[in-house]
Amino acid sequence: MSKVTVVGAGNVGATAVNVIALREVADEVVMLDIKEGVAEGKAMDMMQTANLLDMNTRIKGVTNDYEATKGSDVVVITSGIPRKPGMTREELIGVNAGIVKQVTESVLKYSPDAVIVCVSNPMDTMTYLIHKVAGIPKNRIIGMGGALDSSRFKYYLSQALEANPNEVEGFVIGGHGDTTMIPMKRFATLRGIPCDTMLPAETLDKVVADTMVGGATLTKLLGTSAWYAPGAATAEVVEAVIHDQKAIIPCSALLEGEYGQSDLCIGVPCVLGKGGIEKIIELDLNDEEKELFAKSAEAVKKTNAALPC
Ligand code: NAI
Ligand code: 2OP
Repeated sequence: MSKVTVVGAGNVGATAVNVIALREVADEVVMLDIKEGVAEGKAMDMMQTANLLDMNTRIKGVTNDYEATKGSDVVVITSGIPRKPGMTREELIGVNAGIVKQVTESVLKYSPDAVIVCVSNPMDTMTYLIHKVAGIPKNRIIGMGGALDSSRFKYYLSQALEANPNEVEGFVIGGHGDTTMIPMKRFATLRGIPCDTMLPAETLDKVVADTMVGGATLTKLLGTSAWYAPGAATAEVVEAVIHDQKAIIPCSALLEGEYGQSDLCIGVPCVLGKGGIEKIIELDLNDEEKELFAKSAEAVKKTNAALPC
């Protein structure tokens, strides 16, 4: 029996629950929100798709009832405010730090062995905060950002290549921020064929630039931040852990010397399995990538310094 809890039944949390349930990643999913009735209502609505979509996952919605989350294998934290047009993820820190701290302490009371997946923004800093307050092994805390940014990178690559997005490989490392993420164009391929041999340099640079502001572009269009790809990317991370997939997914991980950095969480390629982050893959970065990574780490650390605790 596998159990997943998703805290926050808003746009991203509810979408993640729906994808987790439809893909039958876990036997049971509990969705918790602070707003009276919202999680219960969304869970009931999703359960009413069970016979339509041949779904066997049990979804339960609760209002702030942490006892219902007891014994979860994975807990996802999406609670907090999203950004509005013109806002950066970093501006959310004041409100979201308090929420993420309280939620972390509450879930660990009932699921002391869970792997925690942090989605709330500014995600790298919230993941770092969880390390500070949770007191659990570092491998059990995963920040979700690189899975989403990589999916956006592959989308923009597929548009430029006029190719099927499923044929494209690529990943993004660094911070989950408009100026801090690093789409790794050197490693992008179309079924193994390097993209830099198929696209002019300026087109590839535009793909990189579009990826970096991918979240802001959607926030401007939607009036709030996106949820379909963020929810699906969250589900991808949860699936890798629950199914012990040993999948390589860029995630925000606590660095202790890797990439020449320590005492911060930032996006790096990770092997995800039952233990959470089972391994950090250290890429042999070239000079340009090293410089970008160092700048990104510096910016993430600056945001961390604004944490109230
Ligand atoms: P939303 O406003 O739709 O949902 C947030 C939910 O959290 C609301 O239902 C709210 O009632 C709930 N909540 C607030 N305080 C709570 C508490 N103490 N306990 C339980 N629930 C609580 O926002 P959305 O769009 O779902 O975004 C959620 C967070 O995820 C935001 O911080 C957003 O910036 C972030 N995000 C992160 C992404 C990533 O790649 N890491 C991608 C997209 C969004
Ligand atoms: C996103 O990338 C805002 O983190 C959110 O859509």
